[in-house]
Amino acid sequence: MCSSRTKPEQMKAKTFEVDDFFPPSPRKKDWTIGLMKVVSLLVIFMAGAVLGLSVSARFTRYFTSQTDLFFPRTIYTANCEESSLSIKSFVSPDHLMHRMNDDELFWRASMVPKMEEFPFERTPKVAFLFMTRGPLPFARLWDRFFEGHEGLYSVYVHTIPDYKLNVVNSSAFYGRQIPSEEVSWGSISLVDAEKRLLANALLDFNNERFVLLSESCIPIFDFPTVYEYLTNSAHSFVDSYDEDSWRGRGRYNRRMAPAIKLSQWRKGSEWFELNRQLAVSIIADSKYYSLFRKHCRPSCYPDEHYIPTFLNMFHGALNANRSVTWVDWSRGGPHPARFGRANITAEFIWTIRNNGTICSYNSKPTSICYLFARKFAPSALEPLLNISSSVMNF
Ligand SMILES: *[C@@H]1O[C@H](CO)[C@@H](O)[C@H](O)[C@H]1NC(C)=O
Ligand SMILES: *[C@@H]1O[C@H](CO)[C@@H](O)[C@H](O)[C@H]1NC(C)=O
Ligand SMILES: *[C@@H]1O[C@H](CO)[C@@H](O)[C@H](O)[C@H]1NC(C)=O
Ligand SMILES: *[C@@H]1O[C@H](CO)[C@@H](O)[C@H](O)[C@H]1NC(C)=O
Ligand SMILES: *[C@@H]1O[C@H](CO)[C@@H](O)[C@H](O)[C@H]1NC(C)=O
Repeated sequence: MCSSRTKPEQMKAKTFEVDDFFPPSPRKKDWTIGLMKVVSLLVIFMAGAVLGLSVSARFTRYFTSQTDLFFPRTIYTANCEESSLSIKSFVSPDHLMHRMNDDELFWRASMVPKMEEFPFERTPKVAFLFMTRGPLPFARLWDRFFEGHEGLYSVYVHTIPDYKLNVVNSSAFYGRQIPSEEVSWGSISLVDAEKRLLANALLDFNNERFVLLSESCIPIFDFPTVYEYLTNSAHSFVDSYDEDSWRGRGRYNRRMAPAIKLSQWRKGSEWFELNRQLAVSIIADSKYYSLFRKHCRPSCYPDEHYIPTFLNMFHGALNANRSVTWVDWSRGGPHPARFGRANITAEFIWTIRNNGTICSYNSKPTSICYLFARKFAPSALEPLLNISSSVMNF
């Protein structure tokens, strides 16, 4: 009502000012008069409606239901209250399933708040991104690892499409599957799955560090050690090195030049650990991703080159250039060593935790180089559960 009264007045004032210099145009005048007519008609109609309302209660009910039809008051209110617009559901959505396609998801996940301060108490979380075809044989070990640290981590699981993870409802993995697509190993679809995991995790603004893991990975330190190590690190942990061999530089395709030069080309294990800034940067990139999609074809392995090369080109100073996931390549061959039931001893785990090698952490030496290890066969679960509390402290 207020605005509809002031509007014609403002309009008149404007017309008057203009009229001082130009003769009034009849069209404008007609329009003003027309507006006045409409307003009058509206007032009359409203008056009529109010009169009608007082006539019969039955009519009132009818009228209300008609208004609801055009202005669904109840649904509208429900939307507001159902927290679709609340800050809580925006910064940390509790449902992982959505109907966004990758383009829509990556676009949304790439958004960064302009304000530095958060209007809520923000506790940085570590996002554990699990990429698996199906089951997670070490879910019970991970659940022990997570237990008691709720609020400091989030879990995301990418499986083959339509796979239903079978875990108890108290598990950290319960209800944590994200919309997934088919992945063929060694192809760009693997990078797509990694980006999908990152992007889904980025939707939660509390997630600050992002670790990529597989179903054969295990934690080798307790949660507080892992959490402190990652959240206090000035660097992300992504393997990135220059290898002058057919397995390294040999996979570079000259058609990527001049955007990507051979000297910028890097190789590294796909099992990354990224901070939020780098994760957003990777999700937001389409230029370099497209070049990999086009020119890093079979026997190139985009998952071993895209992120290491991209970080080297733009964020080298923020990368420790080493992975925090231990793996044993010492036996040679195309696949790393796999450890089963017979191989698990306390000494073995102690050696992975610290074999005397010193690593650099925030520019200082540390004996902790690795937080996770691969590859373990499902048969390793039982012996690992047996020694987890004495060796790994969880
Ligand atoms: C979890 O499952 C148990 C039975 O397996 C059931 O009793 C309990 O209500 C469930 N809890 C939730 C939160 O769904
Ligand atoms: C990692 O490598 C980059 C070059 O890509 C280098 O600038 C950076 O200093 C290295 N990081 C550390 C921690 O040494
Ligand atoms: C695991 O133990 C078996 C039996 O002792 C042995 O043959 C195998 O080489 C071990 N594997 C690794 C990766 O150490
Ligand atoms: C310790 O582990 C690292 C990484 O796996 C390896 O390069 C190094 O040779 C090992 N050192 C010893 C003394 O076994
Ligand atoms: C694990 O511990 C149980 C009970 O102490 C024992 O019976 C079992 O043999 C152990 N399993 C392994 C693989 O060490």
